Amino acid sequence: MRATQKPVVIETVRGMCEALAAERAAGRTIALTPTLGALHDGHLSHLDRAAELADVMVVSIFVNPTQFSDAADLDKYPRTLEADLLALGAAGVHYVFVPTVEEMYPDGPTQTVVTAGRVGTLFEGASRHGHFDGVLTVVAKLLDIITPNVATFGQKDAQQLFLVRRMVRDLNLPVRIEAIETVREADGLALSSRNRFLDTNQRRAARSLSIALEAASSSAERGLDATLAAAQGALMGESLVQLDYLKIVHPQTFMPVDDGHHGPAIVILAAMLGTTRLIDNEPIYLG
Ligand code: PAF
Repeated sequence: MRATQKPVVIETVRGMCEALAAERAAGRTIALTPTLGALHDGHLSHLDRAAELADVMVVSIFVNPTQFSDAADLDKYPRTLEADLLALGAAGVHYVFVPTVEEMYPDGPTQTVVTAGRVGTLFEGASRHGHFDGVLTVVAKLLDIITPNVATFGQKDAQQLFLVRRMVRDLNLPVRIEAIETVREADGLALSSRNRFLDTNQRRAARSLSIALEAASSSAERGLDATLAAAQGALMGESLVQLDYLKIVHPQTFMPVDDGHHGPAIVILAAMLGTTRLIDNEPIYLG
């Protein structure tokens, strides 16, 4: 069922629970797409899948302070609520949950935290201390408030997707996690709310991230070292790209693979372009 009218915007946990209890009582299934707002076509592609999987589409827009380790990054995060609501209305979303920080954390940051474990301290977690504990805790809260049958998460945030899936398995949460493919610009740059911060030269240089992933993918049959070398080669000479990490991880553990690994893997990378941090990844098959 795709709505034709404006979505119902709900700011309170209680209001959200009541509205969705009525939907469930009417026998309707629920899909949740959790977001930080500043929506782009990547987010909207989640809704196409959500509409296939459930009767009622719920989007949450909440810039969750506990997942930002850097106050400046939190302040700078784009807030575009009016445009977001218009886009969600056009996409047929039924409910938009837009809680305040006080509504989500009435007693201040939660005392009970879902910890992301060892994987949560690597890669994105190494540069953004506590980031994944903040993500998992707010996702657990959102899943509890909305109790969706299915929740969508982008492949672009591969480490986040891995950790959310792991949390759902570890805690036996009754929800299906649906991975949504990364949407890219014509030149390959993965869509991100942060791309708007790139100046013209940084935007041009940002292409090299997806070029590096393509180079890795084309070299994957030659093994780990050749794959890493191909990706590094593609980034060499891009002085505006300050690489944070470029790694190849196992899809089942999200730990770096060793030389002897042959089979499915994911190339992950993060880089700073000026003050803007971009991440991207590509599944590969190591020969
Ligand atoms: O990926 C995001 O947009 C956020 O980390 C999420 C899942 C909405 C949690 O705040």
